[in-house]
Amino acid sequence: MPPPDPKPDFNPRMHQGGRLSFRRRVNDQDVDPGDRLHFGDKDPPQLSVLVPAAFDRIEIEIGPGKGAFLVAATAAKPETFVLGLEAAPGYASFAAARLVQSGARNGCLLVDNGKLYLQDRVPDAALQAVHVYFPDPWPKRRHAGRRFFTEDVTAVLARVLRDDGWLLCATDNPAYAGQICRVMGAAVDFVRDEPEEQRLLAAGPGHAFTPTNFERKYVEQGRTFRRYAFRRVSA
Ligand SMILES: C[S@@+](CC[C@H](N)C(=O)[O-])C[C@H]1O[C@@H](n2cnc3c(N)ncnc32)[C@H](O)[C@@H]1O
Repeated sequence: MPPPDPKPDFNPRMHQGGRLSFRRRVNDQDVDPGDRLHFGDKDPPQLSVLVPAAFDRIEIEIGPGKGAFLVAATAAKPETFVLGLEAAPGYASFAAARLVQSGARNGCLLVDNGKLYLQDRVPDAALQAVHVYFPDPWPKRRHAGRRFFTEDVTAVLARVLRDDGWLLCATDNPAYAGQICRVMGAAVDFVRDEPEEQRLLAAGPGHAFTPTNFERKYVEQGRTFRRYAFRRVSA
């Protein structure tokens, strides 16, 4: 018997690893995201379609939320193109509007599943850095497969990052911090570089780690969080 037809609104990009919840946490939608916002839907554009050919340096932020880091990064690194991959359309739209307001032309937002996009739309060695700040920790055991940092992610990151490129991340969740260290620490293609973590922080907003909305919230709450810089090393 043939398999039943999928539901008409089925979008495989939003179902891999579980359905992502698009919570309505951004209400101020009366801002214009302009041409800085793209929708991946079922067939997202290749990286080369989103990034103008003039840019040799490309960085991706997974889950930029309201876009504080993305906007700061486009300002701090005008010769780098910064693509935000955001699963929640409301956040992507909000962040794109902030980009428009900033006047930056070296960045944009795509609504898509960040890990899937890296897997099937980003060529080998295309990226200088991947930023992942305060990824959803999915604390319930049955949801753990939805995390960004699962065993399969290191092969994807090793493929899309250039030699000496960077995976830069932060989390407030102790269990997830442990998982990040276990997964990245087991990968022969990556080494943690603690002096670089300090150097990047000292470099100021938009280089790595800061500013993000969740970072600001956790600083205000006095909550502990961890930041990591993993360098892509050649085999
Ligand atoms: C906890 S928030 C952190 C937002 C922002 N990075 C910050 O630090 O303020 C996690 C963000 O990741 C997004 N997200 C969750 N899963 C995702 C996925 N698979 N691909 C892209 N974005 C995702 C969520 O919609 C949300 O905006």
